[in-house]
Amino acid sequence: MCGIVGYTGKELALTPVLEGLRRLEYRGYDSAGIALAVNAGEKLWIEKRAGKLGNLEEILGDSVPKSHSGIGHTRWATHGGPTDENAHPHLDNEGKLALIHNGIIENYIELRAELEKRGHVFKSETDTESVAHLLSDARKSHKGDLAAAMREVCKQLRGSFTLLAIHSDEPGRIVGARRNSPLVVGVGDGENFLASDVSAFISHTKRALELGQDEIADITADSIVITDLSGKVLPHNEYEISWDASAAERGGYEHFMLKEIFEQPKAIADTLLGRITGLDGEVTKGINLDGIDKVVIVACGTAYNAGLVGKYAIEKWANISVDVELASEYRYREPAVDSKTLLVPISQSGETMDTLMAMRYAKEHGARVFAVCNTNGSTIPRESDAVLYTHAGPEIAVASTKAFETQLVAMYLLALHLGRVRGTIDKKLMVQIEAELAELPAKVEQVLETVEPLRALTRKFKDSTSMLFLGRHVGFPVALEGALKLKELAYMHAEGFAGGELKHGPIALIDEGTPVIAIMPAEGSLLAEKMASNIQEVKARGAVIIAIADAPLASADHLVRIPKTHEFLAAVLAVVPLQVIAYEMAVARGNDVDQPRNLAKSVTVE
Ligand code: F6R
Repeated sequence: MCGIVGYTGKELALTPVLEGLRRLEYRGYDSAGIALAVNAGEKLWIEKRAGKLGNLEEILGDSVPKSHSGIGHTRWATHGGPTDENAHPHLDNEGKLALIHNGIIENYIELRAELEKRGHVFKSETDTESVAHLLSDARKSHKGDLAAAMREVCKQLRGSFTLLAIHSDEPGRIVGARRNSPLVVGVGDGENFLASDVSAFISHTKRALELGQDEIADITADSIVITDLSGKVLPHNEYEISWDASAAERGGYEHFMLKEIFEQPKAIADTLLGRITGLDGEVTKGINLDGIDKVVIVACGTAYNAGLVGKYAIEKWANISVDVELASEYRYREPAVDSKTLLVPISQSGETMDTLMAMRYAKEHGARVFAVCNTNGSTIPRESDAVLYTHAGPEIAVASTKAFETQLVAMYLLALHLGRVRGTIDKKLMVQIEAELAELPAKVEQVLETVEPLRALTRKFKDSTSMLFLGRHVGFPVALEGALKLKELAYMHAEGFAGGELKHGPIALIDEGTPVIAIMPAEGSLLAEKMASNIQEVKARGAVIIAIADAPLASADHLVRIPKTHEFLAAVLAVVPLQVIAYEMAVARGNDVDQPRNLAKSVTVE
């Protein structure tokens, strides 16, 4: 939820720390702050401001001291409102220790009461500040060893956290810790980094180290020491980051979201590469699918919508029952799960707390876990038996687009795999789907070539108060996804419905002029006829119909044509115009497209 970066090395720290924050701002933008270590023993230099990073940058004049190590934070507020006081870093009473945090410290109230009794004075309402004071005391009792102090403090904390701390007595040293929240080490030449994700340092180094649960990283410009909470030194697990800095830049597009929409053909092609006719042994070697009698997909938000499409494909091709569960609901209702359950968490970030916890619950009860994830080395894949990585590349815009498309593709690949392993998929059908999958990138490209008129059409509905989305079969989850995109970007009431459900209540929402987006099933199918009737029902009550269809449709007021494909794969094509509608509506309404209000990209708190 929050973005965290630390730099120590040959450069002046302000530049890489600010650059890291710019790249991490998608994780939260309620406030931003920086602390720099200047001279040993002197107070730290610190500046922080409520609002976006730009607010902080505006006040950073020439007075920023020359320092070679520092930490920076961009916040998504949980405990305490988005004010200057609650912005990170938080200091100890002497102003010599600074701490930044992502996550939630669940026992902060008792810690704070205890610390106040010991004379600590608090300046904010955050859960984080308790840790700064606690660490300060612990450091004194560990004779100034910040890493030893961090280990002791972590044992006292409940909740989830990534923590980074610096102390002015040792200006070149940064100590980090993580539990249920991401932290990676960037390995440089005469410089090292700690950050929430690799985008923060990708223009400096492509070498990174994974940190495991409850591990402490102690870095200087020339050294990296990783330990567990007992102080035992652990081996480094270094990997090479496969994308470069330009992937994390806007590349001439007005917004990251637009760039990511246009990157979808490539993201789909990359995800399909070498996998259409069978999943690589590398992907499947960790998992035995014998005797599986149920598939449970757990995910949140957009990833959940991808899971719903997955259910249609897996049930049909692999002839196995599939439940799709909102991760936040699943984990708390103690569902029946055993070793015959295949649990499929879907997550772009691989760090979504609810999905992670749902997965851990199922694992504890014996489930086998086959994850779908976009982020190498993140927690969900690391704790899974097998992982099918989507190759969407970095997704910076808060609203998910290319990650969703690649999650759909991963669902098809998984459904085909299960169908093959279980011997349930008809050979002819399989060959047909494989051929259609291979054509998807080009067909998405075709859809993208027609978006300009759609953008103009969208602006006509700029002042609508509500927009409804109707779909059947895989068009239903697509309708849910279209409505979710519109809500998060245009701040407009939007709902997705299954076409057949309309007359059971939602049709009462239709009024003169209500825009209704109809996602049409394939031309000539039984469901296309059913949907045509649903369209007549809403039209008769005044709705304006924008149809997404693979054929002409006389009842549509506006038609967006998409290419024909297999009925299950049509979700990949139909969602593109909906992404464009949400994007354009946000632009037309003057909203912040890449950083919509109240949201953050990676939801690492419950
Ligand atoms: C919506 C969106 C969110 C995420 C959800 C899960 O555009 O991006 O709904 O899909 O927060 O995130 P991941 O996939 O990282 O687990």
